[in-house]
Amino acid sequence: MTIGIGLLGLGTVGAGVAAILATPAGRHPLVGELELRRVAVRDLNRPRTVALAAELLSTDPEAVVDDPAVDIVVEVMGGLEPARSLILRAIAAGKPVVTANKAVIARYGEEIAAAAARSGVYVLIEAAVGGGIPIIEPLKQSLGANRIQRVSGIINGTTNYILSRMAAEGAAYSDVLADAQRLGYAEADPAADVQGGDAADKIAILAGLAYGGPVPREAIPTEGIDQLDARDIAYAEQLGYVVKLLAVAQAMPGEQAEQLLDVRVHPTLLPKAHPLAGVNGVNNAILVEGDPVGQVMFYGPGAGAGPTASAVVADILNIAGIRQATGGGGTQAPLDPLLAAGSWRDCRLVESAVTSHRNYLRLRTSDRAGVIGAIGTCFGEAGVSIQSIVQFETQSAGGAEIVVITHEVCEANFRQALAAIEALTDVQAVAACLRTL
Ligand code: NAP
Ligand code: HSE
Repeated sequence: MTIGIGLLGLGTVGAGVAAILATPAGRHPLVGELELRRVAVRDLNRPRTVALAAELLSTDPEAVVDDPAVDIVVEVMGGLEPARSLILRAIAAGKPVVTANKAVIARYGEEIAAAAARSGVYVLIEAAVGGGIPIIEPLKQSLGANRIQRVSGIINGTTNYILSRMAAEGAAYSDVLADAQRLGYAEADPAADVQGGDAADKIAILAGLAYGGPVPREAIPTEGIDQLDARDIAYAEQLGYVVKLLAVAQAMPGEQAEQLLDVRVHPTLLPKAHPLAGVNGVNNAILVEGDPVGQVMFYGPGAGAGPTASAVVADILNIAGIRQATGGGGTQAPLDPLLAAGSWRDCRLVESAVTSHRNYLRLRTSDRAGVIGAIGTCFGEAGVSIQSIVQFETQSAGGAEIVVITHEVCEANFRQALAAIEALTDVQAVAACLRTL
């Protein structure tokens, strides 16, 4: 029995989905049962990378959702609205939804999951995190027996592509960003990538699944790579580290009923031997640490048409398979444990002042006797232990650049030391302050 697909969006991901549906040979036989019946776009005259009959295209996405020939709605248009309303409209009509839209799921996932549970339809989101990497279904199902201690990862392909090329070739940030846009990795507004918002959306989704309850997206401390200085990438390299945009969700001790979490996104120095340090280019990797499983790492292409469409079509196939198994009726009595069980715990983010990290600090100072000693005293008085302190050559006469790496310290203590250092007359500027693993 053929299953009608309504596609909302025919950009990078939508065109990738259409290309798979148009070439079923050699794929799972169910792909041949999927028929693209309607496609919503903004501009009917825009050139497309896939050839589709003109009558399939429409500029009215609601009509695509409402079309009786559409059994499954695939939302790959992006943005918050009208994407959220269209997803809810499909659910209200009893139509299952597949979406790659992490911005919507990170903010409205609870509302959407509740609506889906009421209507008894699936909303599958594998493509929303990690592009072609299966991570949503493993977190929902395969790792369900674990107490998750930490989920950390490189989950933005654009910024990893930029950082990798800056480190390997000394390429200029703006040139590499333009390449990432041309390759279809970046969001419509690449500020979401380079300022860390896209990674924050994704870690909110992963943390919600890993820890059993929605995570307040807007409360996630987020720092991108747009303020990163190429000099810190070079110094990190000399000190045995690589710089990556890392997203982390870590369990903190607390009451059973409520899960306290340290969730954050920021550029991070990783020791070159760390499993995430060798993840380069558009690749993403997510390291899940759980009890009793230990460490499990998921790795692969994190953005782009093909990898993302691979995840979208896998979700469509899941729904199509269930429709077939239930005699074509639909999608009542969801088997999806997330929908069936809902969230089972409250998650709350802790204040960053109580979290502990290693830090990298670059200071511009005068080059004279006693400066390093004075900086060391500020750290010592705040109870911050230093792992290494190095002076680098600078071009400016009479100036020095001092890089400090601390041991793991409480953020409040580190901030206290930083305030004292900034007040030293020989310290001209705190030029960079990054986290270190
Ligand atoms: P894109 O290339 O900008 O494509 C968006 C598509 O949606 C375009 O075809 C556009 O029409 C259409 N569209 C947008 N607003 C519309 C509206 N109001 N009515 C009708 N059509 C509308 O975006 P993308 O890169 O494919 O990303 C799509 C979604 O997938 C986003 O949520 C993104 O975060 C997510 N995602 C992307 C990737 C990736 O690697 N690109 C990976 C994972 C997830 P026109 O073509 O006529 O402009
Ligand atoms: N812009 C996103 C990225 C797309 O670069 O990772 C994949 O979600």
